[in-house]
Amino acid sequence: MYNLGNTAMGLIRSVLLMQLMIFLNFILTVKASTPAVAKPGCQSRCGDVIIPYPFGTGGDCNITEQFLITCNTSYIPNKAFLGNSNLEVINISTDGQLRIFSNASYDCYNTSYRNWSYYRLQLYKFSINNNKNKFTAIGCDTYARVEGYLGQRYATGCLSLCNNITDVSNGSCSGIGCCQTSIPKGVMSYNITIESYENHVDVLPENPCSFAFVAENDNYIFSASDLRGSNFKDKQFPVTVDWTIGTTSCKEAKMDTKNFACQENSNCVDSENNSGYFCKCFKGYEGNPYLPNGCQDINECETMSSCNGTCINLPGTFNCSCPGGYEGDGWKNGTGCSLPNRDKSKRSPLIDIALGSSIGFLGLLLGIVSLCWMLRQRQISKLKDAYFLQNGGILLREELSKRQGYREDVKVFTAEELEKATNNYHESRILGQGGQGTVYKGILADNRIVAIKKSIIGDPSQVEQFINEIMVLYQINHKNVVKLLGCCLETQVPLLVYEYITNGTVFHHLHNDDAAFHLPWETRLRIATETAEALSYLHSAASIPIIHRDIKLANILLDENHTAKVSDFGASRLIPSDQAQITTIVQGTFGYLDPEYMLTSLLTEKSDVYSFGVVLMEMLTGQKVVCFKRSEESRVLAMYFVSLMKENRLLDILDPWVLNDENVEQLKEVATLACRCVRVKGEERPTMKEVAHELAGLQAMPKHPWSKSNLAGEESEYLLGKFPSTYDDGVTSSSMGMGYDSINNKITFELEGAR
Ligand SMILES: *[C@@H]1O[C@H](CO)[C@@H](O)[C@H](O)[C@H]1NC(C)=O
Ligand SMILES: *[C@@H]1O[C@H](CO)[C@@H](O)[C@H](O)[C@H]1NC(C)=O
Ligand SMILES: *[C@@H]1O[C@H](CO)[C@@H](O)[C@H](O)[C@H]1NC(C)=O
Ligand SMILES: *[C@@H]1O[C@H](CO)[C@@H](O)[C@H](O)[C@H]1NC(C)=O
Ligand SMILES: *[C@@H]1O[C@H](CO)[C@@H](O)[C@H](O)[C@H]1NC(C)=O
Ligand SMILES: *[C@@H]1O[C@H](CO)[C@@H](O)[C@H](O)[C@H]1NC(C)=O
Ligand SMILES: *[C@@H]1O[C@H](CO)[C@@H](O)[C@H](O)[C@H]1NC(C)=O
Ligand SMILES: *[C@@H]1O[C@H](CO)[C@@H](O)[C@H](O)[C@H]1NC(C)=O
Ligand SMILES: *[C@@H]1O[C@H](CO)[C@@H](O)[C@H](O)[C@H]1NC(C)=O
Ligand SMILES: *[C@@H]1O[C@H](CO)[C@@H](O)[C@H](O)[C@H]1NC(C)=O
Ligand SMILES: *[C@@H]1O[C@H](CO)[C@@H](O)[C@H](O)[C@H]1NC(C)=O
Ligand SMILES: *[C@@H]1O[C@H](CO)[C@@H](O)[C@H](O)[C@H]1NC(C)=O
Repeated sequence: MYNLGNTAMGLIRSVLLMQLMIFLNFILTVKASTPAVAKPGCQSRCGDVIIPYPFGTGGDCNITEQFLITCNTSYIPNKAFLGNSNLEVINISTDGQLRIFSNASYDCYNTSYRNWSYYRLQLYKFSINNNKNKFTAIGCDTYARVEGYLGQRYATGCLSLCNNITDVSNGSCSGIGCCQTSIPKGVMSYNITIESYENHVDVLPENPCSFAFVAENDNYIFSASDLRGSNFKDKQFPVTVDWTIGTTSCKEAKMDTKNFACQENSNCVDSENNSGYFCKCFKGYEGNPYLPNGCQDINECETMSSCNGTCINLPGTFNCSCPGGYEGDGWKNGTGCSLPNRDKSKRSPLIDIALGSSIGFLGLLLGIVSLCWMLRQRQISKLKDAYFLQNGGILLREELSKRQGYREDVKVFTAEELEKATNNYHESRILGQGGQGTVYKGILADNRIVAIKKSIIGDPSQVEQFINEIMVLYQINHKNVVKLLGCCLETQVPLLVYEYITNGTVFHHLHNDDAAFHLPWETRLRIATETAEALSYLHSAASIPIIHRDIKLANILLDENHTAKVSDFGASRLIPSDQAQITTIVQGTFGYLDPEYMLTSLLTEKSDVYSFGVVLMEMLTGQKVVCFKRSEESRVLAMYFVSLMKENRLLDILDPWVLNDENVEQLKEVATLACRCVRVKGEERPTMKEVAHELAGLQAMPKHPWSKSNLAGEESEYLLGKFPSTYDDGVTSSSMGMGYDSINNKITFELEGAR
């Protein structure tokens, strides 16, 4: 057994504390992101259909069995179906309604033959909304019936005749060529039958078919030309369906606190006929009332512009008033805000004297104020110089002058320039906030858009290293690393100016429900390869090895061509070439953090390899790195993934969006690589260069299904076996930084030779 000394215990305790802090930070960041629609970890979209909780695709994702949505991935885009039925869902809203497709019944004739089909629809829990839907029949020799059970039998229908199709007028459904009737309340099932009086003989060939269907009111507008063809046989009509939770009223449901569906900031509403209830966010709140924290306060000050005064957002409401010195009610539709308009016509001389002297006094005051202002300006300018010194401005200037001609776009910005560019660091300019600082969007005087990072490194002892870091980042000129354009040292905390990347983070594309499309596997693999190349470059090709320390999806940006750009070097550390590893305070993001580094605080480039392995897993599975929906032992993606791989159950966890018949082998290879990257012992992990190499090779792998032959396994082993020895004896860190250039090493595997 291990015998832990006091110091070791202390170390472990502090590591745990650190982990807790990082974790809290993680939770806070998550909370600030866009409101969720589905339960955490649940599929929130199927094709074009957003699936809000209480609906879900199985397991705990749906509140009860009735709220199951089946996503059939054989269609492109995928189609959502209600439960296990063939009823296709078009749209689900959290306010108690959803829309499905229904079909029409038809009854078609030629002189000798009748071809008919009666449509039948069956819902199990929900009912058809009788206000929003209507029953319609069209035909010139038609009587159509809609019937079913609703406690007792019900039936209704209508009749439509016409002598000559030219009598029919468009848009009118009143019995000539078309008829309509409403359906009863609470209908859960119906079937539609159509019959004719004379087998259409009098109206052939003008009107061969009768059709009848239930559809949303404004979704079908009758046109005389509909009588001519048989084109409604395959047409589908949207129907609005009401849904409720359970079968009890709010009052009864509330007693069962454990299963009560309405969460905070929401009201419970009884359904009309007392069967079940639904939930609604309080006034002034919006979101999904069925999710914890789902109903979020609406920021009326941002969404409404009817306030012309000072708008203050309050929980559930807001306050509009005029700033001090103004009068009026503050509303644009009201009196707005204006300066008090004193009556000047009847002014006594006394008032004039008072006015005169107060103007004189004001002048004096102004003088004093401007004097103070000037003094303050001088103070500020002194302060700026001090900051410039403190932040190593002189050092940087020297460094820059030494290296003149290295990169011409090197620039030291002034504080004013950046203040102007960010509209004085206005909230609306914030692009993101992280552990290392805040990033603002800035527009420079020459209209260039840049990202400005206000870092929180303000420790004088770190100045030299900070300058060093800026210098190194200046030198980095890699197409997959966000380019540093300049910096500003005149402020208390140094500011960094980067190129602006337009297309958001990979995290956003992979995990955001609103992301317009799913990243296909080819793109994911390319992004992974590019990221690996960038890291390999940082580790080995740059003149001093750089460890990024915070590799995660949120730090990989995408430009307009979806090219990956590694960003956020706030935590990065330089490793002087005479040291293989350095001791640092453990820093990083929970879930991506190298456990070995966490325990030893010894930083090597293998920590980045670990984080990158987790990134690969995230790309493969589309799952978040930490997820409370998963059971305890599988909460952390890296552990979960490795354990599934051990049991040979990779397919269980793969993102259905990436898997197809042709890329199974490729996915397996990437998964194996990811597992190697997250090995507990750093020295057993491959180097970033090897990872980049392998990924580039896999990318070049031809896409044919070679899954069936056993040969495939040997083949890929051969391919992967190019550097077998290096894995085992551990790449010694001393070899780092020498002779590697991942960029010039674009690998093209000799596949012909391998086969
Ligand atoms: C969700 O639906 C599935 C399939 O009907 C069912 O097995 C599961 O129990 C449902 N979930 C809940 C929480 O009832
Ligand atoms: C998906 O749709 C296809 C084609 O209609 C069907 O063959 C298949 O059984 C469906 N899959 C599921 C899971 O319902
Ligand atoms: C679904 O309904 C919501 C709200 O009713 C609407 O904003 C959205 O456009 C609809 N989506 C589709 C695909 O009909
Ligand atoms: C009527 O329809 C049937 C079946 O489609 C076809 O076999 C027959 O030839 C048609 N008769 C005429 C007169 O068009
Ligand atoms: C009846 O109509 C359906 C749908 O158009 C068609 O598939 C079927 O062949 C028709 N039957 C006959 C006997 O023509
Ligand atoms: C339609 O519904 C009625 C009443 O439920 C039933 O008698 C009839 O058999 C049904 N017809 C079809 C074709 O399902
Ligand atoms: C329908 O009316 C048009 C014009 O009113 C006429 O030319 C045509 O013969 C009529 N068709 C029948 C079948 O009566
Ligand atoms: C009815 O609408 C159709 C197209 O929807 C058009 O071709 C036809 O001319 C219209 N008829 C009348 C009488 O307006
Ligand atoms: C409606 O018709 C389409 C084809 O016309 C068919 O694929 C679908 O299954 C039908 N839907 C129902 C609910 O019968
Ligand atoms: C209420 O609706 C349910 C189906 O949602 C139905 O079974 C029940 O008979 C209805 N009750 C009344 C009083 O209409
Ligand atoms: C102006 O509009 C706001 C909200 O739309 C309303 O609360 C207020 O009463 C209106 N004021 C007047 C004077 O109509
Ligand atoms: C809104 O405010 C602006 C200045 O803040 C003022 O010029 C304008 O007259 C105000 N509008 C109304 C309707 O009060």
